[in-house]
Amino acid sequence: MKTIFSGIQPSGSVTLGNYIGALKQFVDLQDEYNCYFCIVDQHAITVPQDRLALRKNIRSLAALYLAVGLDPDKVTLFIQSEVPAHAQAGWMLQCVSYIGELERMTQFKDKSHGKEAVSAGLLTYPPLMAADILLYNTDLVPVGEDQKQHLELTRDLAERFNKKYNDVLTIPEVRIPKVGARIMSLVDPTKKMSKSDANQKAFITLLDDPKQIEKKIKSAVTDSEGIVKYDKENKPGISNLLSIYSILTNEPIEQIEAKYEGKGYGDFKTDVAEVVVNALKPIQDKYYQLMESDELDQILDKGAEKANAVASRTLKKMENAMGLGRKRK
Ligand code: AQP
Repeated sequence: MKTIFSGIQPSGSVTLGNYIGALKQFVDLQDEYNCYFCIVDQHAITVPQDRLALRKNIRSLAALYLAVGLDPDKVTLFIQSEVPAHAQAGWMLQCVSYIGELERMTQFKDKSHGKEAVSAGLLTYPPLMAADILLYNTDLVPVGEDQKQHLELTRDLAERFNKKYNDVLTIPEVRIPKVGARIMSLVDPTKKMSKSDANQKAFITLLDDPKQIEKKIKSAVTDSEGIVKYDKENKPGISNLLSIYSILTNEPIEQIEAKYEGKGYGDFKTDVAEVVVNALKPIQDKYYQLMESDELDQILDKGAEKANAVASRTLKKMENAMGLGRKRK
């Protein structure tokens, strides 16, 4: 079986963008691949976090991974900071990264833009992400479009490491969904939907209640044309809502366009909200059930144990290749 690794930051409430771009595809992949799914809490602290909120978000994200349909008997679910090899390998990969290439990362530019104080961790986020992936001899990384550049850098770092030291790292491939790889903000449909957006109306979280969902979709920015048609360039708001509708119902976009011919945006938005509410209802039911049980801690303990065993083996190979410490078998 080939191996998959993917992670999500507990940097806020998981959004519909995270679900469509990442979580939803994980569920389809769990039967065919050896899967590692990680709550990347060390990535979250590259920007300021409230410690109590972070703890809450870590637990909530773990429950959501399972609530969307991941089976803990099939996948390894764990928290990044509970596997020390990530930070250790991350450091080693920082030492093969160049400052220039890290400064060129779009995410670094976006997140540091206009800020007076930017943490060094925000700059060195990509080598830590590379460590996450490479420690598990990952073949495939399913992510949304926004992470493509980081994945390209991961491949470059692995190739550089293998060439300079020894061939110990597997070069991973990236898997981006054909539709829904980039769900856009409801407030500014030219920007991606992000869980850390300061404007709560910009995103739908997987735990929003039906009223909140309806309100956010009804106020989503569209255009004044009044025609439900997919045109990403000229109608980014309507196109975003069409993508969401299509992905959550499996109905082709053309079929949805035909259904709303001659109707206004009001009817369309009401139905998009209903589609989202119906898709999230079973996830929310399972989520609240999990949050009240002890099952979650047992699953995360088991996940950390398995992840530690695999990651420490790769770490040892990397240390031997670089000449760190004493040679061990
Ligand atoms: N808008 C999006 N559309 C499709 N996929 C998305 N992803 C994120 N936003 C969208 C995918 O979700 C996975 C987890 O992302 P992450 O939490 O590691 O970091 P991110 O990409 O930076 O996501 P956010 O929500 O924007 O978080 P913040 O606001 O904290 O930076 C990834 O696979 C990502 O591609």
